[in-house]
Amino acid sequence: MRFITCGSVDDGKSTLIGRLLYDTRLIFDDQLSALERDSRKYGTTGPAIDLALLVDGLEAEREQGITIDVAYRYFATEKRSFIVADTPGHEQYTRNMATGASTADLAVILVDARKGILTQTRRHSFICSALGIRRVAVAVNKIDLVDYSHVAFAEIEAGYRAFAEKLGFTEIAAIPLSALTGANVTAASPETPWYRGPTLLEHLEEVEAASGLRDAPMRFPVQWVNRPNLDFRGFAGTLASGSVRPGDAIVVAGSGRTSRVARIVTMEGDREAAVAGDSVTLTLEDEVDVARGDVLAHPETRPEVSNQFAAKLIWMDEEPLYPGRSYLLKLAARTVPATVTALKYKIDVNSFDQLAAKTLGLNEIAEVNVETGAALAFDAYADNRDTGGFILIDRESNATAAAGMILHGLRRATNIHRHASAVDRETRAALKRQRPAILWFTGLSGSGKSTIANLVEKRLALAGQHTMLLDGDNVRHGLNKDLGFTDADRVENIRRVGEVAKLFVEAGTLTICCFISPFEAERELVRSLVGEGEFLEIFVDTPLAVCEARDPKGLYARARAGQIPNFTGVSSPYERPQTPDLLLDTTQHAPEQLAQQVIDLITQKGLIQAAFG
Ligand code: ADX
Repeated sequence: MRFITCGSVDDGKSTLIGRLLYDTRLIFDDQLSALERDSRKYGTTGPAIDLALLVDGLEAEREQGITIDVAYRYFATEKRSFIVADTPGHEQYTRNMATGASTADLAVILVDARKGILTQTRRHSFICSALGIRRVAVAVNKIDLVDYSHVAFAEIEAGYRAFAEKLGFTEIAAIPLSALTGANVTAASPETPWYRGPTLLEHLEEVEAASGLRDAPMRFPVQWVNRPNLDFRGFAGTLASGSVRPGDAIVVAGSGRTSRVARIVTMEGDREAAVAGDSVTLTLEDEVDVARGDVLAHPETRPEVSNQFAAKLIWMDEEPLYPGRSYLLKLAARTVPATVTALKYKIDVNSFDQLAAKTLGLNEIAEVNVETGAALAFDAYADNRDTGGFILIDRESNATAAAGMILHGLRRATNIHRHASAVDRETRAALKRQRPAILWFTGLSGSGKSTIANLVEKRLALAGQHTMLLDGDNVRHGLNKDLGFTDADRVENIRRVGEVAKLFVEAGTLTICCFISPFEAERELVRSLVGEGEFLEIFVDTPLAVCEARDPKGLYARARAGQIPNFTGVSSPYERPQTPDLLLDTTQHAPEQLAQQVIDLITQKGLIQAAFG
């Protein structure tokens, strides 16, 4: 049985876990004497042993009096063994709590009997619910400090049940206890004769562990294809749910191809069956295409397959979420590019109110729509945490940016199909006697992007080439007139421009784009929209001081005067390209010379014939 304990700093959470470990006698003698020693040094319980010190492992934590990471503890009784995730209670640590909750069957929510239900209680309960926990034990702690008052307990229990109604728990048990004295933790307390329910430990022993996974539909995410020689082709992985036997009909969820299981191979020999949690290698009767990341299922109980779905997201990165930015999404054994296409609302975890939002910051929770670069097989997280839970990874830093829980697939995804047009991009380009590409000018405002780009376009036009110029100032008057200059709006600005530029490339055009485009991630996104070699990054590298001295539109002066917020270089960042295809130094060369460098690059890349002198 896996459970998580949630409580705020002084609710007595560590003491409660310490009590469970102590009373189930899992403490060794040497730990006990260390504990006695530490109790004298750091303890907060006078002469008695401070059980909290048993679990608050780190010196730093002891000195600050708080717990800071997820710690997993193991203990057992005759009836059951337990894994408890101990997670910090203070506000900033949603991420740790989510980690602990994602594998737990039950949550023990600590409430201080003197304080009653706090904001924290609501927040913790909400996160547990979002992460799929369906059983909750409300541990009304420090009941000794309210004189074992039945009234105080009943009020808290009723209050909790009332607000938790929206959270979809299937079982809520409330238990009056004292972690410090041990009352109702492992032994029934004579001081609470009005309470007839089980002790906390009894409850943990009896409660149904949510491992109905064996009875759930079969899901086998393929971790790798094992092909040691031409005679053997096996699919290795861990059965996420359900069970499977040789002879079972099988479908590859993504492609819809079917076959039957031939063998279930393990290190210890072939097996007659495998169930959820087993790591095995399956071989099939037919040669069907199966790749790493595919999901095998029974044909009559298939997962959903789509490239768009609705999900809840817990943001875990310092760098905020920007809808439209490209992330990597990892679900079961599959990793694909993905964007958040809509941030529907974020959720105030204290009031459960739905708030409008354009970005999502650290620890914030939202409901979003996600689009992936390839169709995925998945289930709703409520049905299967393994095939319904995912993480988003930041493509630049490789950090885990978010944990996600799939709600349902979006039907519109399956109603739209691409058309193959009769005249294709190659034909369009050939007619124009050129190879199309995006010439992407990036740099600060006033760096000279538009000046150089205009000269480049003029020369190309004179030579009879087909061009289009997209410029920030112009596009922002039409297509992007709804966007401003917040980070989120700049991300969306470049995403849309990238899509437009891609259409022009498909039309066979040499597409010149002039945008500050301050973020590496969006420049890379545009690069990924077109083919290899069809995106040339041209960095107009003019130092801020020079741009500011030129100040062609008078904007820097106004930005310095505080009249323009989020001004690039002044109050908004610019990420320099690391490896541009061309770097133009406007402090050394005249615009005409720099334009020629661009023409030379285009010629050298073979986009146009070398006809310029
Ligand atoms: S981007 O950051 O989203 O790529 P974009 O290139 O479209 O910006 O627009 C930049 C132009 O908008 C600048 O050249 C300038 O004329 C104008 N502008 C107005 N406000 C700002 C601002 N806060 N930051 C930068 N440019 C601004």
